Amino acid sequence: MSLFEVYPLYNVKPKYGEGCYVYDDKNIKYLDLYGGHAVISIGHSHPVYINALTKQLNKIGFYSNYIVNELQEKLSKKIIKLSGVKEYKMFYCNSGAEAIENALKLASYKTKKRRIIAFKNSFHGRSCAAIACTDNNKIQSKLSSQVDVSFLPFDQTKLIEKELIKNDVCAIIIESIQGVGGLDEPTTKYMKDVESLCLKYGALLIADEVQSGFGRTGDFFAFQKHKINPDIITIAKGMGNGFPIGGILVSDKIKEEHGLLGSTFGGNHLACSSSLAVLNVIKKEKLMKNASKMEKYFRKSISKINGIKVKGRGLMLGLEFNFEVKNLRDDLIYKKHIFTGGSSNKNLLRILPPLNIKRNDLDKFFKALNELI
Ligand SMILES: Cc1ncc(COP(=O)(O)O)c(C=O)c1O
Repeated sequence: MSLFEVYPLYNVKPKYGEGCYVYDDKNIKYLDLYGGHAVISIGHSHPVYINALTKQLNKIGFYSNYIVNELQEKLSKKIIKLSGVKEYKMFYCNSGAEAIENALKLASYKTKKRRIIAFKNSFHGRSCAAIACTDNNKIQSKLSSQVDVSFLPFDQTKLIEKELIKNDVCAIIIESIQGVGGLDEPTTKYMKDVESLCLKYGALLIADEVQSGFGRTGDFFAFQKHKINPDIITIAKGMGNGFPIGGILVSDKIKEEHGLLGSTFGGNHLACSSSLAVLNVIKKEKLMKNASKMEKYFRKSISKINGIKVKGRGLMLGLEFNFEVKNLRDDLIYKKHIFTGGSSNKNLLRILPPLNIKRNDLDKFFKALNELI
């Protein structure tokens, strides 16, 4: 093997995909309830997506950010319109970690402070500041440990104020629903407290929507359930349905300066076309509504199987068992041909299917689960 082996690989070789299904080299059909870590939002090989990318590739695939790219403006306007958030401006990058890195850098630059508050069980990516805000000591390095981060539990307002009062915090970074950590969520009261305390003490509130954004929870952004207005929103994953694209939406209270942020590839023509196609399909096929509908169906169906707790929202769900799920996940893949995800909670299976999944696709999972447990 000539690869630097950082991934514990499942032995499946996907050759093509269609909707919620992936086909391997032996033409075995797999139900994709994982969407490659919540990336496949509108389904594999969606014709609108293929068409948009092919057309764009035939025109121009890339040019630098020092020349006008009208697709960037078009995409940011569409995101703002479909999400309903107001008074934000977009900066494009290529991945979730990059979005987080830029958000944190901006917060530190603007507030002239350096400490960050993140949360127990958080995951924000693997670049230096992003990993420092990730609650996992095993993957920290001497370099990342130089970033000053305090980890707090959800839902304890007094602890946040105790830290903010020290007047050295540049940002609070929060996942409205934790992804890798296992689908835990803060309460609305807590989110509102955090928002007002950030305002009171001059720290910026960063909503990490890398996994939960772009319609996955039934709202465009997961934080919208709490009716708060973060200062910076980070996005990636489902944004490009597999084409690498990320970004930060920056409240227009925060003023931009030439040269403050930058990226060679961020927001290139192909990336923007992929995301425009994603938004068109989300809107046309009412995928946010479908995510909410499928959540209800999911919860109802799972309630018929004993001993499983369902966490999360929309099609960002976690199934918590009273045993470790590694063997179950293996059996789902190898015996039932169903992809699911793991989490840092070893008893939890993550369910992150394409947002256009239907009841009869989910029924296959419920049947498999009944047979396996
Ligand atoms: C909430 C959250 N933030 C950031 C990231 C990092 O994204 P990427 O892997 O694109 O760098 C992830 C990835 O899983 C994530 O779940």
